[in-house]
Amino acid sequence: MNSFLNWEQFWQEWRNKEAANEEDLFFQVGLTVDKKPIEKEAFDEICDSISDALALNSSDILAELCCGNGLITFVLKDRVKHIYATDFAAHLIRAAKEFKSASNITYICNNVFDFLVYIKDTVAAAPTKYLMSNALAYFTPDDLKRILLLIMDITAGQPFLFYLKGVPNDKLKWNFYNTEERRKKYLHNMSDGNFTNDGMGRWWHPEEIAAICQELNLKSEFWNSEQQLTGFRMDIKLSRD
Ligand SMILES: C[S@@+](CC[C@H](N)C(=O)[O-])C[C@H]1O[C@@H](n2cnc3c(N)ncnc32)[C@H](O)[C@@H]1O
Repeated sequence: MNSFLNWEQFWQEWRNKEAANEEDLFFQVGLTVDKKPIEKEAFDEICDSISDALALNSSDILAELCCGNGLITFVLKDRVKHIYATDFAAHLIRAAKEFKSASNITYICNNVFDFLVYIKDTVAAAPTKYLMSNALAYFTPDDLKRILLLIMDITAGQPFLFYLKGVPNDKLKWNFYNTEERRKKYLHNMSDGNFTNDGMGRWWHPEEIAAICQELNLKSEFWNSEQQLTGFRMDIKLSRD
C-alpha cells in the first residue's frame, strides 16, 4: 500500500538528510546515479540546456518552480538579473539558503500555486521566464492548467517562456521499466492506486500537454531529454509570443 498521503509529505520525507556538502545536495534532490552525484558534464549540460531553451540573458527575471535546494538556481543566477525560486520542502529551502544563496536569488518556501499568487501580488517586475526542472511528474493535468493560468495572469498578455525539463514521457516509459521485475512492480503500483509510483510520479503524454496548451492558446514544443542521463524523459517549452 502507498504510505504517503500526498506529494508534500513525500518530499518532506524522501532523502531528508541534512546537507553538509555538495554531494549531499545532489543526493537530496535525486541528481544521482547509484546515489552518487551525476557527472559534472551531465550537470553542466542540464544547466546549459535550460539557459539555451529559455534564451536567458542579464535582463531576465526568472521564476523557478520546484527549485529543490537551489543547485541549478545557483548556476543560472549568473545568466539572469534575478531569480525567484520556490519549493515546498522546508529542508531543501533551508539547504538552498545555506549553500546556494546569492544577492540576486530570492528563495521562498511555498507550494507553486501560492508562490505564483505571491509573485503576482508583490513583484513589480513580473518574471517573463519560468522553469520547472524534474518536477512535473508530481502534478496532475489540472495542476498544470492552473499553473499556466497563473503565469498568464502574472504576465498579463505579454510574451513568456516556460521550460519544463525532465518530464517522464509515457511513450518512453518501457525504456525505464526495462526488466520483468521493474515492469511487474510498475503494473502493481498502477493497479494498487499507488500515486507516488515509488517516487517516479506521473508519466505524461506529450499530447495531453499539447491539448492543454491549445485550449489556452499557448505554443508547445517537445524534445527528448539528454540521453546521457535518461532515455525516458522529455523537455517541453511552452510559450506565448
Ligand atoms: C526531483 S526534485 C527537483 C529539484 C530541482 N528542480 C532539480 O531539478 O534538481 C522535485 C522537487 O519538486 C518539489 N515540489 C513538488 N511539488 C511541489 C509543489 N506543489 N510546490 C513546490 N514544490 C514542489 C519537491 O519538494 C522537490 O524538491
